[in-house]
Amino acid sequence: MEQLQVKDVSVTYPGRTRTEQVHALDHIDLTINRGDFVVALGASGCGKTTLLSLMAGFISASSGDLLLGGRAIQGPGSDRGVVFQKHALLPWLSVMENTEFGLKLQGVPKAERRDRAARNLALVGLQDFHKHMIYQLSGGMQQRVGIARALTCNPAMLLMDEPMAALDALTRETIQELLLDVWQKTQKMFFFITHSVEEALFLASHLIVMSPRPGRITHRYELDFNKRFLQTRDARAVKSSPDFIQMRETVLGIIYGDERAGEAQKELSHV
Ligand SMILES: Nc1ncnc2c1ncn2[C@@H]1O[C@H](COP(=O)(O)OP(=O)(O)OP(=O)(O)O)[C@@H](O)[C@H]1O
Ligand SMILES: [Mg+2]
Repeated sequence: MEQLQVKDVSVTYPGRTRTEQVHALDHIDLTINRGDFVVALGASGCGKTTLLSLMAGFISASSGDLLLGGRAIQGPGSDRGVVFQKHALLPWLSVMENTEFGLKLQGVPKAERRDRAARNLALVGLQDFHKHMIYQLSGGMQQRVGIARALTCNPAMLLMDEPMAALDALTRETIQELLLDVWQKTQKMFFFITHSVEEALFLASHLIVMSPRPGRITHRYELDFNKRFLQTRDARAVKSSPDFIQMRETVLGIIYGDERAGEAQKELSHV
């Protein structure tokens, strides 16, 4: 079965002095199964990007193991697609050329790569924009191209580091819904980082909340607000339901409530 396993992983970065060290991640255990939408939430500096970079193979762990489909992750690979906060598209190429870029690098013949890119552009609603240049698109459309590009190599897993952070509120909500549609249709493993508690609750099938220095997973929740949206197509109703609001307040309290720091510490022993 497709599965990503993070087993007792720690990451220590060198600090500013020779003796100083930053414990970015401390004994992280996490399993992501096919069809899981895992969202990581936590204050700035708690190690979210470090965790994603390990999964992507951009960096390696100081200790512990990361396995994808039972095999150790040893570097970046086409089995993991990455969507960044800033879209990282190539501005001198068209939407189609950007989307098929990974397949071109792999030497996939033109007809096949165009076909696969076109299918993924349709999945994100950009079927009519193949020939547009990147600068002709809005920020939200550029992020859709980023998602289509990441999907086009048919990865087992999609890794997203605050992909909506630079978007306006309305566009952000539209792309949240789009992501849930893509998730439902592809059943891939999703790992998604955000600073927005509301976004996290809406998207996640599994939510992890992290604490900084050292970076640890302090809380884990299984949620079904995403499935409720997919059944009803009414995002506002989901986000304004009493249990959503209650959950939002609980998680906000964990992340930002100083007075609850002790409580979070207590719960640490249960995870
Ligand atoms: N290359 C590096 N060298 C030294 N320290 C680093 C490096 N990368 C990250 N750090 C430190 O590790 C900790 C975790 O950083 P990371 O970027 O993973 O946090 P984050 O949760 O993604 O934060 P943000 O929400 O601000 O993006 C921080 O204290 C950061 O300063
Ligand atoms: Mg980060």
